[in-house]
Amino acid sequence: MIQKFIYPVFDRMLSRTDKEELIGQHAVMVWFTGLSGSGKSTLAIALERELHRRGLFCRILDGDNIRSGINNNLGFSEEDRVENIRRIAEVARLFIDTGVITIAAFISPTNRLRQMAADIIGREDFLEIFVSTPLQTCEERDVKGLYAKARRGEITNFTGISAPFEVPEHPALTLDTSHLSVEEAVDRLLALVLPKVEPKKK
Ligand code: ADX
Repeated sequence: MIQKFIYPVFDRMLSRTDKEELIGQHAVMVWFTGLSGSGKSTLAIALERELHRRGLFCRILDGDNIRSGINNNLGFSEEDRVENIRRIAEVARLFIDTGVITIAAFISPTNRLRQMAADIIGREDFLEIFVSTPLQTCEERDVKGLYAKARRGEITNFTGISAPFEVPEHPALTLDTSHLSVEEAVDRLLALVLPKVEPKKK
């Protein structure tokens, strides 16, 4: 067992509540899930801007960014996707424990992956947002040209084409960006998130 001689010092460190009081907000995890090209990153960025404008302190964790840094040794096999989401969830937990509103934009294609993330982060802090934009729209957008490559078989295990995406069972919110504008989607997100992050008036 590699974890044998490890002695965490969490109990001597300042707490999440100390941090939240210092910055005047409650932390929450906003976890976007959906196909590549569904609009997760766009909504994450737009939501962060709106929260920031209201004086709230946020951090985005995004698929392509994380995969070019901390997770640059991982691919898209089932096993690698588990490790991808496990590390992201552990990192997200550090931000949450620092009082930061944390916004994640990862395909996280299965219920098992999303449940693992929620378990690591804490279910009470976890808001699952399903970006339900249909595959056809994502494929028409094909912003990165990856769907075309996946159809030609140049990319294997591509979510929606040659790898599964499971629809979330009980998302806190479902947003289809083929019907909603970014502004409309962000309004719905703010209605959900603001009451959870704004400190109660004394
Ligand atoms: S996840 O499934 O492990 O959660 P993640 O969100 O980190 O995926 O990364 C998805 C991004 O990686 C996509 O938006 C796309 O740009 C790129 N990508 C490259 N190969 C694949 C693939 N086989 N399946 C899905 N996305 C891929």
